[in-house]
Amino acid sequence: MNPIIELAKQYNLCVIEDAAQAHGAEYKGKKAGNLGDAAAFSFYPGKNLGAYGEGGAVTTNSETIANFVNRYRDHGSSEKYIHEVEGYNMRMEGFQGAILNLKLKFLDKWTDLRIRNARIYDSLLQDIDDIIIPRRIPDTKHVYHLYVIRVKNRESLQNFLFDRGIATGFHYKYPLHLQKAYTHLGYKNGDFPITEKVMQEIISLPMYPELSEEQITYVVENLKEFLSVS
Ligand SMILES: Cc1ncc(COP(=O)(O)O)c(C=O)c1O
Repeated sequence: MNPIIELAKQYNLCVIEDAAQAHGAEYKGKKAGNLGDAAAFSFYPGKNLGAYGEGGAVTTNSETIANFVNRYRDHGSSEKYIHEVEGYNMRMEGFQGAILNLKLKFLDKWTDLRIRNARIYDSLLQDIDDIIIPRRIPDTKHVYHLYVIRVKNRESLQNFLFDRGIATGFHYKYPLHLQKAYTHLGYKNGDFPITEKVMQEIISLPMYPELSEEQITYVVENLKEFLSVS
């Protein structure tokens, strides 16, 4: 983040963190959500801190941004009956807030378990030549919403593991610049060669706090079997 923040300062830009998967993550002693001008967290049920339905939050230290966000989430209104701008209805249900408040108490414990699981994966996968495991950057706390490795033939690997009762995911399958929604920006295949290469190799292995060492070992054994037969 530091180089990004430096660059933003140089060009007088705002930095908005995508902290959707980063609850509790840290960078050089600071929590995610507190690194840029504002940050967006997701409370989608599958996230490290998930509601029982859709939810999210914006964090910021700027009063101007806080007022702006508050207005937009409530039909552009900061005072009943008065609508200063066109806005949206992005109000989170009170029920979701109650659930999140309860679950928040367990977040640190769940994060520790995710980190433990990632360490087990790291130790079992680190010496396998055909796999690239997630890199850890010094002075950061990675909270492992996902455990993403890089392999060749990820589609065949996914099918192979699926047949053995192991679910995996692609996060994500296509890069942003090739999504139809962004065709107006004029990018084409080949414009971001590293992104495009990595995108075809990434696969997310099972990762959640309750995952056991035995289950991780089962995933890794099957992964090794795939690599030896493919
Ligand atoms: C990195 C990242 N950013 C943003 C989002 C969007 O989250 P939401 O749909 O809850 O706004 C997600 C959701 O999966 C995500 O993983």
